[in-house]
Amino acid sequence: MKIAPSIIACDFSKLEYEIKSVEDAGADLIHLDVMDGHFVPNITIGPVVIEGIRKLTKLPLDAHLMISEPERYVSYFVNAGCDMISAHVETLKEPFKFFDYLSEKKIRTGIALNPETPVHSIDKFLKYVDYILIMLVHPGFYGQKMIKGTIGKLKSVREITDKEIEVDGGINGENVKELIKLGADIIVSGAYIFKSNDRKKAIESLRYYE
Ligand code: DX5
Ligand code: ZN
Repeated sequence: MKIAPSIIACDFSKLEYEIKSVEDAGADLIHLDVMDGHFVPNITIGPVVIEGIRKLTKLPLDAHLMISEPERYVSYFVNAGCDMISAHVETLKEPFKFFDYLSEKKIRTGIALNPETPVHSIDKFLKYVDYILIMLVHPGFYGQKMIKGTIGKLKSVREITDKEIEVDGGINGENVKELIKLGADIIVSGAYIFKSNDRKKAIESLRYYE
């Protein structure tokens, strides 16, 4: 499994230190929560910040687009240096424009779904994506508690595809065990890693082996 610290929970006044610290602590990816204040009730970073982050780390950049019209902006994130980009099924008006563009650019493509969005909304897209991002909280803020019912969704998605599954929201050293048992491959974690006083230990505690 891969651990992806979400920098939404980091101290942006020392971004370089924060990124290097999770890289040194054993992170596999850097999760970038992009929010536009329209699809979700918060505004975070965009391509110009990601261009800067690209210069700070060699780790793959995992952009989670919580924005309307992702098809319109996806090229900005490719040009900023993202290695994998997911958009929410709830926002894709022209999904194949998004999928085709990223496959042409050889960028790993993900489709994300909110807690209340049924799994069957992504069935028809599974063959066009490399991974599925399952939200375990309502998108917009870090430090939330995982919504228990979303665990069932992980089970249902695992049953219909062997593509990589990324889980995001409210994950800690305890609840991660069930997620991994049910087949989660990429573990996103914001507060649990960045607010811990031992980031190496926090990341290691997310690597659960049955
Ligand atoms: C929600 C964000 C968060 C973030 C992880 O929109 O996507 O889930 O990545 O933050 P924590 O791990 O603190 O919930
Ligand atoms: Zn996220």
